[in-house]
Amino acid sequence: MKKLLTVLTLTLTGVLSANAGTWELSCSGCHNGSLAPTKTTLLKKYHSKREFLAAVRKATEVGKMPSSLPFESAADELYGGKTAETNTTSKATTSSDEYSKYKRFFKPLPALPKIPADNPLTPEKVKLGKMLYYDPRLSRSKLISCNTCHNLSLGGDDNQKSSIGHRWRTGGRNAPTTLNSGFLRVQFWDGRAPTLEEQAKGPLQAHVEMNSTPKIVVRRLKEIPEYVELFKKAFPGEKDPVTFENVVKAIAAFERTLNTPNSPFQRYLLGDDSALTKEQKEGMKLFVKYGCIACHNGPVLSDGQFHKFKWNKDLGRYRVTKNPKDKYMFRTPQLLNVAVTAPYFHDGSVNSLEEAVKIMARKELGKEISNEDAKKIADFLRSLTGEVPLEARVLPQLPGNNPE
Ligand code: HEC
Ligand code: HEC
Ligand code: HEC
Repeated sequence: MKKLLTVLTLTLTGVLSANAGTWELSCSGCHNGSLAPTKTTLLKKYHSKREFLAAVRKATEVGKMPSSLPFESAADELYGGKTAETNTTSKATTSSDEYSKYKRFFKPLPALPKIPADNPLTPEKVKLGKMLYYDPRLSRSKLISCNTCHNLSLGGDDNQKSSIGHRWRTGGRNAPTTLNSGFLRVQFWDGRAPTLEEQAKGPLQAHVEMNSTPKIVVRRLKEIPEYVELFKKAFPGEKDPVTFENVVKAIAAFERTLNTPNSPFQRYLLGDDSALTKEQKEGMKLFVKYGCIACHNGPVLSDGQFHKFKWNKDLGRYRVTKNPKDKYMFRTPQLLNVAVTAPYFHDGSVNSLEEAVKIMARKELGKEISNEDAKKIADFLRSLTGEVPLEARVLPQLPGNNPE
């Protein structure tokens, strides 16, 4: 009887523990029938966990999915498995872990952000968006692409103090990463664009960035027959699909796939207690205790709100609204992948993460914190670095054109 009870509890904790909801959280966003097959289709196609995981391996090897998603745990959820035991062990250590109570302040990152109804995600559109993201011919000089400043092999930014655009001009602001940008409530340091679609119109036209015009962009793309075909596929049923609106829709669709839901911290939140070092757990605790979490919260550690950061002459949100209350107000940036997106702040004036943490504590929380605590928090922030999906990082083959 006692044995039976233990087995029952084991199974129950197994079912209820970390892997409950893995599919929903980490897979269903892409596996929705348009980008990749749904759960029902997969269950019909693969009759065992083994076959399923073999298919996963194939798909990750060719770069269709990031390789370090929690596939095992999803497979256990779909097919059931010997997880009861393995999970209870991790469960046991988790609950005896003094740090686990801080987990509830954080939210795991879903595989995909919310997809707007007027710009559904399809593989054709994502493919086109990727090509446009990498294509320098959208810029007036034909030299600058989104990837110039948001380099997907460099953490989605350019590691410059402030970006250099058309004719070596600079806009004076640091380029934030495009990774996980679909999760931000508003775009830009001053929040001047509400969506990724609106955002993309900015750099294409800004004279300090790509210095192009909707007319130039559309004309150049129409001259390339392969692009016309790709637009037709991405926007089926439209008579004249090569438009500026569709250019930014495709780029935004691609950006919504640039997510990194597989960092050590993400794995920790999903139940892998060994994913963080003791220092990093300590840093997580301090991040909550000092109150960083008040502004840096939600799945990308940004509340999407504006807060005062008087730092230099940049008036921030005021430049957009002209409301005196908005002087020196900046949108909280996300912190995912922050370790690989130095330098910091809207002007890129700070190189070290420890230093950025100390400045934040001083200016946003009115606290002087010790070097040791700053180091622990910075170590925690280093656990937020995820893997950029391989499919997004591999250079696309762009169609050639006749020189103008
Ligand atoms: C970023 C998007 C994305 C995420 C997140 C994702 N997948 Fe995929 N997955 C894909 C794509 C794209 C394919 C390839 C589909 C195709 O070839 O038609 C694929 C293929 C697969 C296949 C093989 C399907 C087949 O028919 O051969 C399996 C199994 C699978 N994924 C399981 C998972 C599981 C489990 C998770 C969550 C842990 C997951 N995927 C998360 C995009 C994703
Ligand atoms: C010359 C460098 C440069 C180029 C080229 C460029 N960007 Fe940017 N990007 C920046 C800078 C600098 C900012 C911040 C500007 C600000 O907030 O005022 C920014 C901001 C962004 C943001 C907002 C992220 C956030 O956290 O708010 C996104 C998304 C983005 N760019 C995407 C793109 C796309 C898509 C393209 C191509 C169409 C592109 N960028 C081209 C430099 C560049
Ligand atoms: C009151 C809200 C608030 C609090 C509290 C807060 N931050 Fe920030 N954080 C911001 C804002 C706003 C910015 C953008 C500042 C700017 O304009 O450059 C920022 C920027 C940052 C950056 C730079 C990110 C980048 O990409 O440049 C880091 C790192 C950071 N915060 C960490 C922390 C840490 C660690 C704490 C706790 C010690 C903390 N923050 C507390 C609002 C806050």
